[in-house]
Amino acid sequence: MLAFDDEQPAAQALAAALAMPWALVQRHRFPDGESKLRLPPTLPADLLVLRGLDQPHDKLVELLITLPAARELGARRILLVAPYLAYMRQDMAFTPGEAVSQRHIAALLAAHVDGLITVDPHLHRIASLDEVMPGCRSLALSAAPLLGAWVAQQVPGAFLLGPDEEALQWVAAAGRAHGLDHAVCHKQRLGDRDVRVALPPVPLQGRAVVLLDDVASTGRTLVEAATAALAAGAASVDVAVTHALFVGDALAQLRAVGVRHVWSSDAVPHATAVVPIAGLLADAVRVF
Ligand code: R5P
Repeated sequence: MLAFDDEQPAAQALAAALAMPWALVQRHRFPDGESKLRLPPTLPADLLVLRGLDQPHDKLVELLITLPAARELGARRILLVAPYLAYMRQDMAFTPGEAVSQRHIAALLAAHVDGLITVDPHLHRIASLDEVMPGCRSLALSAAPLLGAWVAQQVPGAFLLGPDEEALQWVAAAGRAHGLDHAVCHKQRLGDRDVRVALPPVPLQGRAVVLLDDVASTGRTLVEAATAALAAGAASVDVAVTHALFVGDALAQLRAVGVRHVWSSDAVPHATAVVPIAGLLADAVRVF
């Protein structure tokens, strides 16, 4: 397995779960911002590459150099494990002329790999990644059941609330698996940090609400949902997300509106990560 130096804990965990040897891509950053990459001089025919794509721009460029270089060094079949797959939310032209980044980033990666495993890639307007990854087998896993297990343990009897309709798939999966009540809000996004959230018509008075979503970026979606839930009488509001991007003041804003705990999976390395996904990834790699 090949991994990158800024993801060593994730690489160690996945390699241990798979009992697989691994090596790092050595990176050197030139003063002008370009990267020099050095891979092991010979690679196995079947190669797994681990690369999360949060903060995607440098990582994508380095990956698009690493993958063809790996083929030159012996890899014939490359399986990319990208726990976070960037650009999946830009999945339609919301205004005329807007690039559908999901399609183009996915196609770019598909041109270089034979298979892709990822986690909760925000497939909202397409049923499967296969639709945007021609010639590449793909598998989208979900961390929602693992997050649900964590929530059920920490907050018995929690009410799982999805902050928008798209979260129904995650709250339903986690709710079913652990016998937790669930519902979703209605969300309207007016700008990057301008989000309106309307609660579903269910009583939240006295309930321990846990907001569950695939990704938190600015955190504004969760801030609005938490504020509404507390105003509706929720006894507490906690947050559990697969992908903890939490840019800028996102965490501080969540605390400021009264969110108690913030938990995430370790699909993106982050201080809030409490739910490891190495086992989930390893099981998928074994049967891929
Ligand atoms: C999109 O619908 C996603 O599921 C998240 O709800 C969204 O990306 C969160 O973004 P932010 O944290 O910036 O509100």
